[in-house]
Amino acid sequence: MSDRALGVTFSVPYEIAAVRQLRQTSLQDREHALQACGYNCELLPQDAIYIDLSTDSGVSALSTAQIAAGSGTEAVEPAMGMATEASRAFASLSTQYRKFFGFPYLVPTTQGRAAERIWAKIHVKPGTVVPGNMLFPSTRMHIESNGGKVIDVIADGAHNLQSEDPFKGNLDIEKLGALFREHGRQKVSCIYVELSVNACGGHPVSLGNLKKVKALAVTNGVPLFLDACRILENSYLIRQREAGYHDRSIREIVFETCESADGCTMSAMKDFLVPMGGMIGSRDPVTFQKATVQSFLDGAQPPASAMQMISTALDEIVAEDAYVTSRVEQVNYLWRRLRERVPLVHPPAGHAVYVDLAAFLPHIAPENHRAEALAAFLYYVSGIRVTKGAPPAPAQAARGVELLRLAVPARKYVQGHIDDVAEALLYAYAHRHEIKGLKQVEDPQRGKYQPSHFEPL
Ligand code: F0G
Repeated sequence: MSDRALGVTFSVPYEIAAVRQLRQTSLQDREHALQACGYNCELLPQDAIYIDLSTDSGVSALSTAQIAAGSGTEAVEPAMGMATEASRAFASLSTQYRKFFGFPYLVPTTQGRAAERIWAKIHVKPGTVVPGNMLFPSTRMHIESNGGKVIDVIADGAHNLQSEDPFKGNLDIEKLGALFREHGRQKVSCIYVELSVNACGGHPVSLGNLKKVKALAVTNGVPLFLDACRILENSYLIRQREAGYHDRSIREIVFETCESADGCTMSAMKDFLVPMGGMIGSRDPVTFQKATVQSFLDGAQPPASAMQMISTALDEIVAEDAYVTSRVEQVNYLWRRLRERVPLVHPPAGHAVYVDLAAFLPHIAPENHRAEALAAFLYYVSGIRVTKGAPPAPAQAARGVELLRLAVPARKYVQGHIDDVAEALLYAYAHRHEIKGLKQVEDPQRGKYQPSHFEPL
């Protein structure tokens, strides 16, 4: 994790300034906790958890400067309403946003899904199609609820879990061209590209691929939008893996990535290390105005404190490469510790390590909830929590691909934690034959949207 370019070993560019005490639990405590939550680790109480790898979203550690920005008097100002320019927090975030991402117009929101909801409402017309690369369920849902149909044009390599292809998030340019020929450009609302594609293993999209997608978008007169919530990690992997970018700074790669797009939606709760916030970036003043009005109507405007915290984070984490280096290298370290023995998705990604469940638990049938079964076993033996997470993309479900994500929250865990995760996973794999499938408990008292309860088979 060192940055030798600085002439020193400078692995982690921050120190711990405040900590939260963790409760140590016994095997018996954890057995009771599992019984109480119906073997569904999503329902575990937070104070029964040692290391939480269920998400990297909204759970990273804040810096002292972020806490000051979010709680200081600067953050006390009235809600923006329609007078966005009058907000000091908005003005400061807009300046930062233009500086780092280059989009002239910013609409801040409460979360990524709020940004997608607004953006899809403006851009997706009923009866049209939206080509994408295994888009996140919230993006897909907002496109579909506006009458659009998402068509997956991710390259087939994304389905090969073992290959070392460095850019499995890339779109298949042939498939994209064929989609335009089949549907005609009028039937395509926009192209949506997710960076660091979460569904298939956090795999990055290369700049070379993005530029080819942009060229097709321009030829067909269709806008190209990014889901850029993991743009920092995508940029780091571009610098590591794409010819021509090894000597470029993360900040330059982030900027060049945005240059290829007409707009973007992003959750700020992942790469930008805040507990609340999302952003829409636009180059078009008309859609910017529409999105501003829509965010006001939807009640999707963030408070000043959230905007101040994002502004502060941008200086700390985009301006210098050291942060993202330590972030991604910590995830890579976990991947390297496991790869010899545990069936993982290859190559490593920026925010999570993904376990191939069919290879890990071949003795458990898919209908017996392999993800929940492994999560419950892991929690029982170690206190570490992982959860099933978002459902697989339709193309993965059709192929029977099932992954369990170990999402590493940024800046939160030290090497000792990561070593404990590795030991627990290695133990679980060595004892995999002891892991039994689960069956869902039919309970008429639980509503259909409540997380399920299970019992061991
Ligand atoms: N896009 C991607 C790629 C995401 O991973 C998420 C959220 C969103 C959009 C929506 O953003 O949560 O701010 O509304 N991912 C979380 C996760 C939930 O655990 O990966 P949001």
